[in-house]
Amino acid sequence: MMRKTAKLLLIFLVYVLPVVSAQVNNRSCRRTCGSDKTYRYPFGFSSGCDIQLNCTHDAVFVEEFPVQSVGQDTIIVNVMPKCNRPIDSFRQLFGHKYAPTARNALLLQNCIDRISPCLIPKTMVQTHFDSLDCTSGSGNLSCYSDNTTRGFMNYDNITNSRCQYLMSSIMADRLSNSSATSTPVSLEVAAVELGWWLQGDCKCSSDANCTKFDSPANGKPAYRCRCNQGFVGDGYSSGTGCRKGQFFKIKKEN
Ligand SMILES: *[C@@H]1O[C@H](CO)[C@@H](O)[C@H](O)[C@H]1NC(C)=O
Ligand SMILES: *[C@@H]1O[C@H](CO)[C@@H](O)[C@H](O)[C@H]1NC(C)=O
Ligand SMILES: *[C@@H]1O[C@H](CO)[C@@H](O)[C@H](O)[C@H]1NC(C)=O
Ligand SMILES: *[C@@H]1O[C@H](CO)[C@@H](O)[C@H](O)[C@H]1NC(C)=O
Ligand SMILES: *[C@@H]1O[C@H](CO)[C@@H](O)[C@H](O)[C@H]1NC(C)=O
Ligand SMILES: *[C@@H]1O[C@H](CO)[C@@H](O)[C@H](O)[C@H]1NC(C)=O
Ligand SMILES: *[C@@H]1O[C@H](CO)[C@@H](O)[C@H](O)[C@H]1NC(C)=O
Repeated sequence: MMRKTAKLLLIFLVYVLPVVSAQVNNRSCRRTCGSDKTYRYPFGFSSGCDIQLNCTHDAVFVEEFPVQSVGQDTIIVNVMPKCNRPIDSFRQLFGHKYAPTARNALLLQNCIDRISPCLIPKTMVQTHFDSLDCTSGSGNLSCYSDNTTRGFMNYDNITNSRCQYLMSSIMADRLSNSSATSTPVSLEVAAVELGWWLQGDCKCSSDANCTKFDSPANGKPAYRCRCNQGFVGDGYSSGTGCRKGQFFKIKKEN
């Protein structure tokens, strides 16, 4: 009798337990979408990924918006010009681990209140969006930018202006408040820049720097890692970390 119990216990320990625990900490992350796109930690396309994006028909999406690029600090998504797209769809870009940065200027339709002047010269807006006329029949177009110093847009501030539709967006390298004196800025039309982060305390590779800030989603600690000069990699201890980049010596030009 005793032996049988022991045998059952052994079976449990050897066969059942590993399977159960493997399922519990199933943290495998699928990093590819389609044939040639492989994403770095923390991005991926399954529930085990620290930042999960969607892969639909071999294309990467954040909600309804196609991803143009994923970088060290940012995700750029395309927001194609479209009349009468509900402003609520912009809320979807405020995630737990990413949010639109303050470097975006939104083109909004049908705002009840007059909103503060756009930080992008009006002529630039006109030249880029002239072909799409949302104003005929369906109301006025306003440009909104958040002049916060905190780095991220605030969704409540956007809704405070009581605008109905999101037509498109312009992402500017440096938003300037004066069209007359503005130095040339690098513009990305029909795009929104999202800043991303991981939650908690820094878990960076020993050869990386950690940037700490408060998560715009909930005010809790957030961070990003970046490999020190001379090193390459994602910089995260849960990722591939950093390794010496001896093959890619950057030459300083004068
Ligand atoms: C992890 O989960 C995926 C899908 O959720 C499944 O296909 C895979 O077999 C799981 N791996 C393990 C070790 O349980
Ligand atoms: C991915 O798609 C699902 C189902 O449509 C949605 O619930 C989820 O929010 C999407 N996630 C992202 C990052 O787009
Ligand atoms: C813009 O259009 C909306 C709805 O058509 C109207 O209520 C609002 O007063 C207009 N705003 C301005 C600044 O003209
Ligand atoms: C934002 O703009 C308002 C009005 O133009 C100004 O009073 C305020 O100081 C600005 N805030 C920042 C952080 O620049
Ligand atoms: C945005 O919202 C925050 C908090 O609600 C507020 O402190 C800030 O003044 C607002 N900024 C603008 C430009 O309206
Ligand atoms: C615009 O920028 C100038 C300095 O470059 C500053 O003095 C002024 O207050 C700014 N205006 C607004 C509305 O932020
Ligand atoms: C990391 O921090 C060190 C010391 O503060 C600094 O010298 C170095 O330039 C930083 N590296 C990066 C990639 O920011």
